[in-house]
Amino acid sequence: MRLIHTITELRRALAGAGAAFVPTMGNLHAGHLALVEQAGRAGRPVVVSIFVNPLQFGPGEDFERYPRTLEADCALLEPLGVDYVFAPAVDELYPQPQRFRVEPPLADELCGAHRPGHFAGVCTVVLKLFNIVQPHVAVFGKKDYQQLYLIRAMVREFNLPIAILAGETVRAADGLALSSRNGYLTPEERAEAPRLYRTLLTLRERLAAGARDLATLEAEAAAALTAHGWQVDYVSVRSQATLLAPKPNERALVVLAAARLGATRLIDNVEVELSEPGL
Ligand code: PAJ
Repeated sequence: MRLIHTITELRRALAGAGAAFVPTMGNLHAGHLALVEQAGRAGRPVVVSIFVNPLQFGPGEDFERYPRTLEADCALLEPLGVDYVFAPAVDELYPQPQRFRVEPPLADELCGAHRPGHFAGVCTVVLKLFNIVQPHVAVFGKKDYQQLYLIRAMVREFNLPIAILAGETVRAADGLALSSRNGYLTPEERAEAPRLYRTLLTLRERLAAGARDLATLEAEAAAALTAHGWQVDYVSVRSQATLLAPKPNERALVVLAAARLGATRLIDNVEVELSEPGL
């Protein structure tokens, strides 16, 4: 495994070989590692990028305190047979202010509504990384469902010759989706945090049992969280195909939520496949 910091060196090392690519912001956990293993099954060489992208953090968000643990990350990646870790400095990716941006759709939906400019920052850095690494396949986690949706849409609409694979969300034994941000939680908050997933599972069970009033289901789920000290950004039932409100008879749904426990914002989602006739 080689640790590479510059675009020139990475390009020289890859020499046009179509890689299997996993972009990350580091502070790696078992969720990231599952994506890396999936990439290894999809192709070689395997490239993992580690870059905390300033463009996707809003003012007052956690860019400065986001955990940077490159040495520990490399120790986790080495035994997985990763070929290259690409860890550029901010100046390497942004030698001057980035004036051109990808302007993604759904900017006012779900997390887009609560994090202005976030997905423009994500799509812009991912497009840059795609152009630098030139992978034939890239792997993203379902944990960040709107991000995965937008990357797929970007690849399709810009005709990028890259297959996007989705990794299932990896969870702790108590159901909490693994996230680098879980490290911000106090012990009390960490004990409370699995309620987010449990609330989504309850909503899914109610849908499966025939409940169809989505506004009521969403409001009840949000209230269940608020009652336990969460500040809820949204709980929303959406179409998997569009990430918008589902249409009558639609069956492939996803329930998404974002909520804060103290200073920490957590997101999660569960897919729901309704049996006929759907909604
Ligand atoms: P980061 O949060 O480090 O996540 C990197 C990848 O790991 C993403 O595809 C994310 O969906 C996936 N991931 C995170 N937690 C996961 C879990 N518990 N189970 C499965 N996959 C999980 O997402 C980003 O970085 C950035 O926005 C990035 C795409 C790198 C652009 O800067």
